[in-house]
Amino acid sequence: MSIDVEKIRQDFPILDQMVHDKPLVYLDNGATTQKPLAVINALENYYRKDNSNVHRGAHALSDRATIAFEDARKTVQSFLNTQYSEEIIWTRGTTESINIVAQSFGQVFIKKGDEIIVSAMEHHANIVPWQMLCERTGAKLKVIPVSDAGELDMTAFAAMLNSNVKMVSVVHVSNALGTVNPVAKIIKLAHEVGAKVLIDGAQSVAHFPVDVQALDADFYVFSGHKVFGPTGIGCLYGKKELLDQMPPVQGGGEMIERVSFEGTTYQGLPFKFESGTPNISGAIGLDAALKYLMALDRVALSEYEDDLLKYAHERAAQCEGMRVIGTAKNKAGVLSFLIDGTHPADIGMLLDQQGIAVRTGHHCAMPIMDQFSIPGTARASFSIYNTRQEVDALFEGIEKVKMFLC
Ligand code: ALA
Repeated sequence: MSIDVEKIRQDFPILDQMVHDKPLVYLDNGATTQKPLAVINALENYYRKDNSNVHRGAHALSDRATIAFEDARKTVQSFLNTQYSEEIIWTRGTTESINIVAQSFGQVFIKKGDEIIVSAMEHHANIVPWQMLCERTGAKLKVIPVSDAGELDMTAFAAMLNSNVKMVSVVHVSNALGTVNPVAKIIKLAHEVGAKVLIDGAQSVAHFPVDVQALDADFYVFSGHKVFGPTGIGCLYGKKELLDQMPPVQGGGEMIERVSFEGTTYQGLPFKFESGTPNISGAIGLDAALKYLMALDRVALSEYEDDLLKYAHERAAQCEGMRVIGTAKNKAGVLSFLIDGTHPADIGMLLDQQGIAVRTGHHCAMPIMDQFSIPGTARASFSIYNTRQEVDALFEGIEKVKMFLC
């Protein structure tokens, strides 16, 4: 199987529009991806025909909604290749998934004097929950240094490991730099000292296949909206043996087995972590998104995206005054840059006037921006439907920005 990008583009109706009288060039996929018709139709079909609450009703609509909702969990199981479907917990997204692990795993497994390791290139969502846990418990947060190219210092990481380290939580693909981290090696090294590992997959799962069993990840988290699904739905994968030992984080309906004023008992996995009415349509939309992606040739898609990013880097190398932030050997999806004499916010605004959507700012990764002594970058982030012509449009746009600002 190979890929036909024009055909893929037709699956995403939003791409076919003019913005400020120019054809839309959508290069903000790191912030959120667009949605294929399969997802739009699945959401419409659910609300037109099946809308109902799950696991509760004694009627046909509730049965249909429940089956679709639980089938979606099995789709995520196959997407990540987990051993059991109950190892998939529905959450609002990556941020909530990490917070659940920090609170629940932290309650049982983290105490004063323990160490938690993150890296200097983490998104705030993979820093702040661990800082909060350290404040509560007296554990220490340690940070893996990052080189000027934007690569993890693996020698320093290896030297940081000891029997006090209980958790290593790192990003698979950096949203600010595009670096693909050597997570299999990180997991192996961490396991040698008995630490558990959480991988933030928010920026990875849309770009290449992930197999959590092959990686031996203890936790793997991602957001639906960055992998062609709806906003407000995400997943927490955890190994059953760990999730079984972890207490619920929120109490309420759905997560209980029996409630009385004498005491309450909880459901097993996955429901003990899913209090209240879940995001049913979100799960059904994500199901459609993942099935859409899995029906494509994912290896060919990754190669296509790698080629596109390589092309963007080649163009960047010839672009006078452009400084690329993040030049790791192994990258996915992201070209973060600055133009001499300009502020990233102005670059974003002037590109928008030309129909080109990028993100500007610190990308919720202030510590790595501080390391580079910059306030932020302009970031073009690519997906399966972007083309070389769009990369050309970006660089033509940048020339106009330079003429205007420099
Ligand atoms: N974390 C998202 C990004 O990188 C929103 O843009």
